[in-house]
Amino acid sequence: MLEVRDLEVAYGAAPALWGVSLDVRRRRAASASSGPNGAGKTTLINAIAGLHRARGGRIVFDGRDITRAAAAPLLRAPASRSCPRAGACSPA
Ligand SMILES: Nc1ncnc2c1ncn2[C@@H]1O[C@H](COP(=O)(O)OP(=O)(O)O)[C@@H](O)[C@H]1O
Ligand SMILES: [Mg+2]
Repeated sequence: MLEVRDLEVAYGAAPALWGVSLDVRRRRAASASSGPNGAGKTTLINAIAGLHRARGGRIVFDGRDITRAAAAPLLRAPASRSCPRAGACSPA
C-alpha cells in the first residue's frame, strides 16, 4: 500500500507539485496519475521513487515512511536481460 499525503516538490524556488494525496493498493493497476504535459506526473513518480526530495508532505509505503529515503534499491540494480530461447542471445 502506497500512501502519498499532501506532497510538495519544487525545482529550486519553482513549485512543481503541491497538495498531492493518493492511495495505491497493492496489485491494483496503477492509474494514479494523468494530466497534460507539465502537470507533474514525472515529478510525482520520481518523488515516490526517491529521485526528488519532497519539500513537504509524506510518502508511506507498507507502513514505512519513505519520504526521505534514498532511491529504491531496484533503481540502482544493474540492468537485466532475458533471452527468448537458448542460444538466441550473444554473448550468452
Ligand atoms: N528539471 C526541471 N527543472 C525545473 N522545472 C522542472 C523540471 N522538470 C519539470 N519541471 C517543471 O515541473 C512541472 C511538472 O513537470 P513534469 O513532472 O515533467 O510534468 P509531466 O510529467 O506531467 O509532463 C512543470 O511546470 C515543469 O516545467
Ligand atoms: Mg512526464
